[in-house]
Amino acid sequence: MRKPFIGGNWKMNTDGKNAVELAKGVAQGCAGVIDKVDVSVCPPFVYLSAVKQALGSSNIGLGAQNVYFEAKGAFTGEVSCQMLKDVGCKDVLIGHSERRHVIKETDALINKKLIAAIEASLLPIFCVGELLEERKAGKTEQVVKEQIQKGMAGISVEKAKAVTIAYEPVWAIGTGVNATPNQAQEVHLMIRQLIASMYNKDFAAQIRIQYGGSAKPDNAAELMTQPDIDGLLVGGASLKADDFTAIVKAAAPVKK
Ligand code: PGA
Repeated sequence: MRKPFIGGNWKMNTDGKNAVELAKGVAQGCAGVIDKVDVSVCPPFVYLSAVKQALGSSNIGLGAQNVYFEAKGAFTGEVSCQMLKDVGCKDVLIGHSERRHVIKETDALINKKLIAAIEASLLPIFCVGELLEERKAGKTEQVVKEQIQKGMAGISVEKAKAVTIAYEPVWAIGTGVNATPNQAQEVHLMIRQLIASMYNKDFAAQIRIQYGGSAKPDNAAELMTQPDIDGLLVGGASLKADDFTAIVKAAAPVKK
C-alpha cells in the first residue's frame, strides 16, 4: 500500500512573516487528514527553523529545496545534509528542474547529492522530467530514463527505499498547463517499470512517484486517481494555505 505524499515546494518565495503564517495555515488545514496523507513543506533555507517551529506537533514534514553532498568545509554558500538535519529537515528536493536547467546541475552532481542525503538519513524527493522540445521530439522516455539511471547509479535497493521520485515535465512547471492525467500516468508507469528492471518488482510496487507541474485544487483528485500517481509536488499552489490544504484533502482518500 502506497500512502499518498504531497509536497509543497515554496521555491524562492515568502518572507519570514509570511512563511510562518503559511506553515501555520497548512498545519491547521491538514490536521484532519494527516494520518491518511504524508505532507511536507519545503521553504527557503533561511526560514527552515522558523517554519519547523510553526509546524509544531502537526506531523507535517519539513523539507529543504537543495543540499550539497560534502559534509563540511570550504564550499561557500552551500548547505550540508547534517545542517538540514540539525534544523529538523526530514526531506530534501534533489534535481529539481530549476536546479538542472537554471543552475545547470548535472546528473553526476545530482547522484552525489542523492547518495549523501540517503547516508545522512534524509528522505530525498528526486525530481526528473523532460523539456517541451524533448517531448515534442518523442524523447520523453529516453530523457527520464537517463535521469533516473544516472541519478540513482550505485544506490542499492536498501538505500533506494529512502527515495520518492517526482516526475515533473518541465513544460508543465509554473505554466498553468498540467500534464493530462493520462500523459502523467504513462510516464509514471514507465518509471515504475524502469525501477523494477533496475531493482526488483517488489520495490517498484513500493516506491512512491509524485507528479509535479501546475498541480492545483481542481486537478489534484483526477491526477491522484491514476494508478501510478502516488502524490503531488506542488509549487505555485503551495503558497496559499487554502489551496495546498485542498490538494492534500483531494489526495486523502486515494490508496494504492
Ligand atoms: P508548479 O511547480 O506547481 O508551480 O508548476 C511545481 C514544482 O516545480 O515543483
